[in-house]
Formats: sequence, structure tokens, C-alpha cells
Amino acid sequence: MNALAATNRNFKLAARLLGLDSKLERSLLIPFREIKVECTIPKDDGTLASYVGFRVQHDNARGPMKGGIRYHPEVDPDEVNALAQLMTWKTAVANIPYGGAKGGIGCDPAELSISELERLTRVFTQKIHDLVGVHTDVPAPDMGTGPQTMAWILDEYSKFHGYSPAVVTGKPIDLGGSLGRDAATGRGVLFATEALLNEYGKSISGQRVVIQGFGNVGSWAAQLISENGGKVVAVSDITGAIKNSNGIDIPALLKHVKETRGVRGFHGADVIGPKSILVEDCDILIPAALGGVINRENANDIKAKFIIEAANHPTDPEADEILAKKGVVILPDIYANSGGVTVSYFEWVQNIQGFMWDEEKVNDELRTYMTRGFKAVKEMCKTHDCDLRMGAFTLGVNRVARATVLRGWEA
Ligand SMILES: NC(=O)c1ccc[n+]([C@@H]2O[C@H](COP(=O)([O-])OP(=O)(O)OC[C@H]3O[C@@H](n4cnc5c(N)ncnc54)[C@H](O)[C@@H]3O)[C@@H](O)[C@H]2O)c1
Repeated sequence: MNALAATNRNFKLAARLLGLDSKLERSLLIPFREIKVECTIPKDDGTLASYVGFRVQHDNARGPMKGGIRYHPEVDPDEVNALAQLMTWKTAVANIPYGGAKGGIGCDPAELSISELERLTRVFTQKIHDLVGVHTDVPAPDMGTGPQTMAWILDEYSKFHGYSPAVVTGKPIDLGGSLGRDAATGRGVLFATEALLNEYGKSISGQRVVIQGFGNVGSWAAQLISENGGKVVAVSDITGAIKNSNGIDIPALLKHVKETRGVRGFHGADVIGPKSILVEDCDILIPAALGGVINRENANDIKAKFIIEAANHPTDPEADEILAKKGVVILPDIYANSGGVTVSYFEWVQNIQGFMWDEEKVNDELRTYMTRGFKAVKEMCKTHDCDLRMGAFTLGVNRVARATVLRGWEA
């Protein structure tokens, strides 16, 4: 099932549990605006190259739309649509005053030079600058983009609209970025995992953890989990997968990845097949790379007791059913990886206030939001007698539905 079909299915199940009427359901599902632009740039060798950029603005009932921009060869309109919708429910679950959006450019950033990436980002910004804005739609980094990409967007946008640091989040600190934003999604994953384990009378200490993806989210999650006594026994990235049942030395792996740009070749662990990472023996599995990786082909072989969805939509609905029968507890993406957008919200607030918070305040506030979010999700699970995914969906959809009705927008 593709990402959009899976997301729509989860939304419809939640709408049914909430008893939403069909007109409201329809108006919540249909995106506010879908943008598709051609971005042509001169390459370093003087030839021209064209890339397709997307921005889907899903919903703005609760505030400006918010969501990342992804650079990846597999970016397609359906996937961007699904991710935009997930952002609408995610910002509502986090209870921050935003709607949802998502964007991307179909390109392989590893094959573009820094100056080509800069030109591509600036052309994309020129094409969408009048459709995004501090109180309209606030982009952020996602897979294949980072603080430098946000700096280029901020600079290009400011040429048209005057200096506007709050137009993007995930910026470098020197341009108004928030302390703690870089680690925020990984730190949120830690807080979310702690909240879940607490329900089972457990703590992170001693848990055996497997992580797919060692980029921003996966590497920060690995670092913070190991600092808190968890044992990271296997990790993978695009370059390969490695395992050490005694626990991988994460600081040493971080150093290796910084030097070689991948986990491949790390001496402190054994090489395993990239597909076997998800079915390794462990207590906690954290997918932190691509969507759709847990599916009917591998769900039966998964050994983890808990899955923490750091990536967006890593589990498809067929796998959800198989895993539920096996008793595996899944902490869903729209709650588990909401630490990033929550600290993005803190960054936007700081930019608008013109006042910078210290890192301790950012991390303390993040813990408060993640803990409160977990309690709210559990309340919905009790009310609707459902699993954590439906608890999170009903929470998010209900909050957006209430805002929609209050604004008089239901058809
Ligand atoms: N960065 C954020 O703040 C944030 C917030 C919420 C959700 N997410 C989600 O988390 C996931 C990771 O995002 P990120 O920001 O860490 O991206 P990133 O680009 O920093 O890292 C992605 C990682 O995934 C690895 N990867 C790519 N293809 C892979 C494959 N086939 N097998 C194994 N590993 C593979 C890459 O090598 C890299 O280590 C995405 O699904 C993203 O949407 C990110």
C-alpha cells in the first residue's frame, strides 16, 4: 500500500471512531493547496538540468502550515501528500499552533555539488516564495536537507520580503536557529520511548536497541539512548548495516561516520545484510530512515517488543495488523518523531519574540510537551479502546476537526 493510501486509511479509521460527519471528513482530507514547480539550474559543467519540486499545504485550521523539505530521488506527489497530511495530525498531537505541509525536490543530493545544491534551493525558493511565509507556511529540514539549506531559503526569501528569520526553522544558530534543534527529533524519540517504557515498568537502561538510519534522527537517538544506559546493538545507513551484541561504541561510530560519511567499514562491529537490520534480535526497534520499510514481507520476522517510529510512516497497515497479533507495541510516527517540529515551534517563537532561549530551557520544554503528548494519546486509547496509532490519530484529527468547525470552515 503506498504512503498516501496508508495515511488516508488511518485517517478514515480515526474519523469513524470519532463519528465525524462525511462532509467534515472530506474537507479535512483534501489538501489546501498542491504546488508543483520545475526548477532548472546550470550545473557546474555549464549544462542545464531540471528537477521537479513539490510543496503540499495540507491544512491551516490551527495555524500556519509547517513541514520539512526533502531532497531524495524517490520524492513523488503521493508521498509528499501523505507526509503533509501526517504533519497536520502531528502538529495537533503535539498541541502546537500549526497546520501541516511538506515539500521536496526529486534529486539525489549526493550527486550534486554544494554550489549546485545552493542554486537548486534558491530557484525552488524563487518559485514558491509568495506561497510560504512566517504566518502562512514555514518549511524545515527533512531527509537530504539541513541547516545550510534553510540558510539559503531564508536568504532568498528575504530578498523578496525583507529579513525574515521565522520563515524557516532548523536554521544555523548564527541565523536565528534554536539551540537544541539539531538533536530535537532524536531527543524527542528518547523522551517518547521513556514515556512508553514507563507504562511497562521499564526504563531505557539495559534495553537492546536496533536503529535503521544513522542521519540526523538516528544518530542523535543512538547517542542519547546510549548515554541513558541503552545498548545499541545494530545500526544501518545507506552504506551498510553493522551489529555488535555487546553494544556498539556510539561515540566511536559517530567519529567514524564523520570521517567516512557512513557506518560501513566501522571496526567495532560485524557486517550484516542491510535487510536483516529490521529483524535483528532486540527489545526496541527504531526505524529512522525511509517510509514503508516494515511491511507484510518482514513483519512476521520482527523480534522487537517495541517499535518507535522515528521515520515517517515506516510501517504499512498490513504490517500493523501482523505486529498487533504478535503483541508488538508500536509508538506511531505522528507522536514519536514530533520532537523536531516541537522545537521548530520553539525556534519560530524565539524569532518572533526576538529572544533566544538557553538549551536547558529548550530541552525541558520539549520533555514537557512529549510527556503531555503521551498522556493525551493514552487518554484517547482509553476513550476509543484502540491502539497507540489510533490513539494518536484520533487525538490529532479531533483537534483539527474542532478548529475547523470553530472557524466555520466545514462544508
Ligand atoms: N530531521 C528531522 O527533524 C525529522 C523530524 C521528523 C521525522 N523525520 C523523519 O526521520 C527520517 C530520517 O530523517 P533524517 O532527518 O535523519 O534524515 P537524514 O538524511 O539526516 O538521514 C537519513 C538516514 O537514512 C539512511 N538511509 C537512507 N536510505 C536508507 C536505506 N535504504 N537503508 C538504510 N538507511 C538508509 C541514510 O544513510 C541516513 O543515515 C525520515 O523519515 C524523516 O522524514 C525527521
